[in-house]
Amino acid sequence: MDAIRWQETSLALLDQTKLPTQEVWEDYTDYRKVADAIRRLVVRGAPAIGIAAAYAVCLAAMELRDLDTHSFRQEMDKAIKALAASRPTAVNLFWALDRMKLTLSAAGGTPEAIPVLVQEAEAIHREDIAMNRKIGQYGAELVPEGARILTHCNAGAIATGGYGTALGVVRAAHSAGRVSMVYCDETRPLLQGARLTAWELVKDGIPATLITDSMAASLMAQGKIDMVFLGCDRMARNGDFANKIGTYGLAVLASYHAIPFYTVLPSSTIDMSIPDGSHIVIEERAPSEVTHFAGVQTAPDGVGVYNPAFDVTPHQLLTGIVTERGVIHPPFEERMAALFE
Ligand code: MRU
Repeated sequence: MDAIRWQETSLALLDQTKLPTQEVWEDYTDYRKVADAIRRLVVRGAPAIGIAAAYAVCLAAMELRDLDTHSFRQEMDKAIKALAASRPTAVNLFWALDRMKLTLSAAGGTPEAIPVLVQEAEAIHREDIAMNRKIGQYGAELVPEGARILTHCNAGAIATGGYGTALGVVRAAHSAGRVSMVYCDETRPLLQGARLTAWELVKDGIPATLITDSMAASLMAQGKIDMVFLGCDRMARNGDFANKIGTYGLAVLASYHAIPFYTVLPSSTIDMSIPDGSHIVIEERAPSEVTHFAGVQTAPDGVGVYNPAFDVTPHQLLTGIVTERGVIHPPFEERMAALFE
């Protein structure tokens, strides 16, 4: 299962806004349209955004290849800035663009760099899938026989290069015969849990139950959740992390009910340059995502709306961090530094 395919001179993206009812792939040759697709959540999920942006840099270079060296460099700079402006929270976007920028300058900063840029974008894509597989192996070791797992938003194959982070753990644990149920929060306002996670799980034949976001507390109180695995958009070096809005609430609930709570991420999601979560920029999205439901108005004109796409969970609420290099337990700051610096 995947959502991003490079086709030599174009990028194909599975339009995630149309799931689960329609599986539509669109071809992109214009990097501006890829930036717009990232903004509109046609492609979404931290690692997937980074991969799509890396391929978009290749598309920009192909479009600009006939310019003289000076103009080529100037226009490439503009293209990279336009891609960086698409969404602010997931650090994978900036991490992937930095890799592409370095590759371009190391290859001379001219259109001759195009094959090397393509190789780099493909490497970012391939490495992400490999990291997810490793993450799955490490994470599955935490899962006991018969586990009932809760997840939030979509940290699956389509949010990554393939396989998934939190859903990578679920997939690996399910293959090992240890998963009895995966509860997916529907994830208001854009329903990534209902539309995307439930779709992935049903497609893979993994037992799945959809709940609305407000049901998690009651399920935990009834003893029906054994552990929580969810994704991450940016982790600060002390372990504080941003993920889909609602994650922080789940962390508080899990702590109250003494339920193990894990975030799952590749190293490309760790931002060692920031000391804690207060430095993470949280994207605010359009009020219409909250005042309308599937195009139907559900709130009165004139009401104020607050619509942050993410929240920050303090590291104290985390049981552990599952990465491609292993599972990190507290104290996070020194253990992350030892693994990733
Ligand atoms: O707004 P989205 O759908 O891009 O938010 C996605 C998430 O919050 C995911 O949990 C996160 O990006 C990790 S994806 C492996």
